Amino acid sequence: MVVILQPNIFKNKTILITGAASGIGRGLAIHAASEKMNIILIDIDEEGLKETQSLIHNSSSLALKCDVSNFKELSQCKEQIIEQYGRVHFLFNNAGIFLEGRSWKINNQNWKRIIDVNVMSIVYGLNLFVDEMIASNERCHIVNTSSMAGLIVGPAFSPYTATKHAVVGLTRSLYEDLKNEYPKIGVSVLCPGLVKTNIMKRDKSGLNLDNFAIDQHETATLNKEWLGEGVKNGMDPIDLAKIVFDKINKNEFWILTHPEFLEVYKEYSNELILSETATLN
Ligand SMILES: NC(=O)c1ccc[n+]([C@@H]2O[C@H](COP(=O)([O-])OP(=O)(O)OC[C@H]3O[C@@H](n4cnc5c(N)ncnc54)[C@H](O)[C@@H]3O)[C@@H](O)[C@H]2O)c1
Repeated sequence: MVVILQPNIFKNKTILITGAASGIGRGLAIHAASEKMNIILIDIDEEGLKETQSLIHNSSSLALKCDVSNFKELSQCKEQIIEQYGRVHFLFNNAGIFLEGRSWKINNQNWKRIIDVNVMSIVYGLNLFVDEMIASNERCHIVNTSSMAGLIVGPAFSPYTATKHAVVGLTRSLYEDLKNEYPKIGVSVLCPGLVKTNIMKRDKSGLNLDNFAIDQHETATLNKEWLGEGVKNGMDPIDLAKIVFDKINKNEFWILTHPEFLEVYKEYSNELILSETATLN
């Protein structure tokens, strides 16, 4: 039997992870360390960054405090990254925040914040790093973190759902734009289900969480509680990271860690197909 050894696409390459101070970002960083990568950790939470860095102390890493929704701050990070590592091969646009509620009950300030953090930060990451990935002519990969909420819709989760749907659309467009002309740049969208992280804490989210600013409708409150329980009992981010790296290695676009939610997706898309078929007949 002939065994063909696959080249290791991760070893000694540089990975940038936003939202690296906690949860999924931390899990990805720990996995990247096991792959012997150079790791750039970006987050708004300086203490959490230090903790993540201490967990990967045997690896080369650079921790940068930054609000990724601020293009100027992220550009300044880029200067330090170039100085230390030259370029980024793997870009994980992962930082994100959660907000429940019905669309018309969310004030402009909170809508703007969640769009800036969950969507514009990804745009800024692409603005700053993709051209250089292309110019490098090396195998690179971009992973944008969406959610199952980027594919399916439940009541009273409007801001989170809208931003995560935007991430799926943005990432699929990126994939279509790169796949033929620049096939060395892989693209994936990560759509996790429930993962055991600190996403429901929201202490550094920049959202206005005062009672008067949050939708107090019973459905919003109950669904937030349901989500909180699910997250508490969710997948370990370390297990999630293994799935993510395996999918990147296979150069797959979709990274779904909880395929059981696809049943709901099927119902949702069938509704569209059936309504269209009824119109055509
Ligand atoms: N936990 C889940 O069940 C779940 C499910 C689906 C998708 N996600 C997505 O996974 C991603 C990571 O979230 P998590 O669950 O690990 O939560 P988490 O809160 O544990 O980690 C998110 C990290 O992002 C950082 N962050 C938030 N806003 C930031 C900003 N403006 N600038 C820089 N850093 C910022 C936080 O400080 C935190 O360290 C998010 O995009 C989230 O929407 C999570």
